[in-house]
Amino acid sequence: MKKVVKTSLKVIGIIILIVVLFGLGGWWYINSTFLSFENDYAENMDIKELTIDGYSFLDRNSNNKLDIYEDDRKTNDERVENLLNQMNLEEKIHLLKGSGLSSAMGIGNTAVAGAVGTIVPTPRLGIPTIYLSDGPAGLRIAPKRDGEDRTYYCTAFPIATLLSSTWNTNLVNEIGTAMGTEAKEYGIDVILGPGANIQRHPLCGRNFEYYSEDPVLTGFIGAAMVNGIESQGVGTSVKHFVANNQETDRNFNDVLVSDRAMREIYLKGFQIIVEKAQPWTIMSSYNKINGTYVPERKDLMTDILRGDWKYQGLVMTDWFGGNNAVAMISAGNDLLEPGTKDQWEALKEAAENGSLSQEEINTSARRILRLIVQSKKMQHYQYSNNPDLAAHAKIARKSATEGIILLKNEETLPIRKAKNIALMGVTSFDFISGGTGSGDVNEAYTVSLEEGLINAGFEINEKSKEVFETHKSKYQKEFVKPEGMSALTNPYFPTRMEYTSEELKAIVRSSELGIITIGRNSGEGGDRVENDDFLLSKKEQNMITQVCKAFHADGKKVVVVLNIGGVIETASWKGQPDAIVLAWQGGQEGGNSVVDIIKGKVNPSGKLPMTFPINLNDHASNANFPLEGGALNIMKLMFASREEKPENEKVKNKDYTNYEEGIYVGYRHFDKAELEVSYPFGYGLSYTTFDLSNLNVIMKNDTINVTVTVTNSGNLVGKEVVQVYTSKPDTKIDRPLKELRTFAKTKSLNAGEATTLTLQVPLSELRYWSEEDSNWILEEGLYSFNIGTSSRDIRLSAEVETKLESN
Ligand code: BGC
Repeated sequence: MKKVVKTSLKVIGIIILIVVLFGLGGWWYINSTFLSFENDYAENMDIKELTIDGYSFLDRNSNNKLDIYEDDRKTNDERVENLLNQMNLEEKIHLLKGSGLSSAMGIGNTAVAGAVGTIVPTPRLGIPTIYLSDGPAGLRIAPKRDGEDRTYYCTAFPIATLLSSTWNTNLVNEIGTAMGTEAKEYGIDVILGPGANIQRHPLCGRNFEYYSEDPVLTGFIGAAMVNGIESQGVGTSVKHFVANNQETDRNFNDVLVSDRAMREIYLKGFQIIVEKAQPWTIMSSYNKINGTYVPERKDLMTDILRGDWKYQGLVMTDWFGGNNAVAMISAGNDLLEPGTKDQWEALKEAAENGSLSQEEINTSARRILRLIVQSKKMQHYQYSNNPDLAAHAKIARKSATEGIILLKNEETLPIRKAKNIALMGVTSFDFISGGTGSGDVNEAYTVSLEEGLINAGFEINEKSKEVFETHKSKYQKEFVKPEGMSALTNPYFPTRMEYTSEELKAIVRSSELGIITIGRNSGEGGDRVENDDFLLSKKEQNMITQVCKAFHADGKKVVVVLNIGGVIETASWKGQPDAIVLAWQGGQEGGNSVVDIIKGKVNPSGKLPMTFPINLNDHASNANFPLEGGALNIMKLMFASREEKPENEKVKNKDYTNYEEGIYVGYRHFDKAELEVSYPFGYGLSYTTFDLSNLNVIMKNDTINVTVTVTNSGNLVGKEVVQVYTSKPDTKIDRPLKELRTFAKTKSLNAGEATTLTLQVPLSELRYWSEEDSNWILEEGLYSFNIGTSSRDIRLSAEVETKLESN
């Protein structure tokens, strides 16, 4: 409730400011441009209540009802063609943009409060409103509705980065299925996620919404998520297509990037998702690429997506994305969200004067109709408003546990004896479930580490709790977590804790183990910064040093838990604690999941989906990334001119960002530059050990088949991830030393148990993008297949001679 009120207050604040500044004209402008411009449509169509619940208001018994498009015996394509033929031009144009921002702001009587956008209904033909809602870590709708006592909470699942850390596509599919069910039962037709951008640089504020620095991991996990959600008859919108890798000036930033880096890195994850999952929708990104706004680029929207990849679904803009409505539709960006009056008028005018052809309008309208016909709304699905939140909480816990990565363990975990545990650091008590902005979820609760420990039968050291309470009461105001859209301009960063030596002495004396939690929170609209964010703050460094000294002096151990959404510096302090648990932000069950790991109820099996570097500057992309951070400027977003600036006024890393590192993102760069890292891509410890043996790599029918045996050689049941990297030792071109091609996770293996995994890599996946030929090219000959349990722990290698047989 608090967050609805806060968000509404902010919105109302902006509106009042505009009205004060520009008088009633200002209000008229806001209302008719962004909020309720669709009322004009209702008047034009002589329909009185267009914006009410599209489903219930349809007069299903009316004589107007045209059965053909509701007839299940017809194919969807037939139903779509039938509908399209009955629509007049104005109705088609209305389909091409949403109904405005009012639903996004919870203003007015929308069917699903908090849904952020719509596909408009066509009442004359009985076509219902389609509701679109965020986001990647669970559904984001408003938890409260006017005049109702009940709540509409959603499950906060773990952040995307944690999900990719599981390297378990079956599990991610299961989470997607739960998310899809939740959306379906709340009447949402399309979930605006998952995010598939590459984590180019550790400071991107939205990295938590993305999967990896590697496109194959991104693609495999993203496809599993899409398939899970869409198995429930709910669509996805894979976003932000493409190369949206910073938040600073994201609406205007021009990405200067090579074709090869685009194809091999930034597009590749999306390509895998399209090929494996055919998502209902893709969301184009805000940024420009090489001078042109992404949604206005026909090469991306049509030639690559539809031509090369055979994509069947529709493309929608990101919210208010792009500049020229007509250019976007012509390029193949079918739907403009959330839709503005200016866009509507521009499309009408272009249709009248012929600059937008009938064919272009029909193409996009057809794709949108296909989604509508596919939707549960069109099948009259009676949503319950009552998803099984308890069952979904269990899935959230299970997945959060599986994505936790054990970074260090010196005979400390799992906890065998300690009962009384001292908790240090703000976030031990105030756990962070996920990131902010549109990737946030309105969940009913978040289990903190403190609660998780109590739930599992541990005692929380009273002195450590008392020190926290004193600190909290001193900085009370900072402990109100900004949530939802209010966090766009208001990051959560409570003052860090300090301990006097007396306090520490008392804590150590009365406890058996110390846990320090380091927390971070970031989100949409702003990038992170190096000081006090990537780097630990002085207070955090002191806390780790003093706590470790004090506990060690008394022969007791210290565990550091990282409750973070993106990479932080670890090299300078990782020697001090006895164990480090990378918990990420695990959703509403986060605290329980950490305890499942540290207690040993579950053996950790997560692996890093990105590199943890020693220094930020070790990343090649650091030379070209906005390092100053800063929050989103909503006024700039909505009203700034999108006219091209003169060259000499353009500011580096804001107006444009030069992706000079090309394909050398993440481990591709660290390997090539032979840099030490703090923790490598693919890394993660277990409480048991695994042996890899019997590697076989055979090429047959243009596919390389890899078989390998994994044996649990330790004492505890556990799972291992096998990662297949390739290299081409005698390459004639500039290629990474190692590229992930596929991976597999074993089932739970008992001590001593072995399993044989079979993995396949199509020969075509070994190609590189040749800029000279503007095509994928295969270098035939010898390839090395390197099988590892991390990118820097290659256990087995085999060479295979390749030649395209189908040539
Ligand atoms: C974000 C998208 C989101 C949309 C709707 C935009 O600001 O970039 O990821 O889906 O808002 O909330």
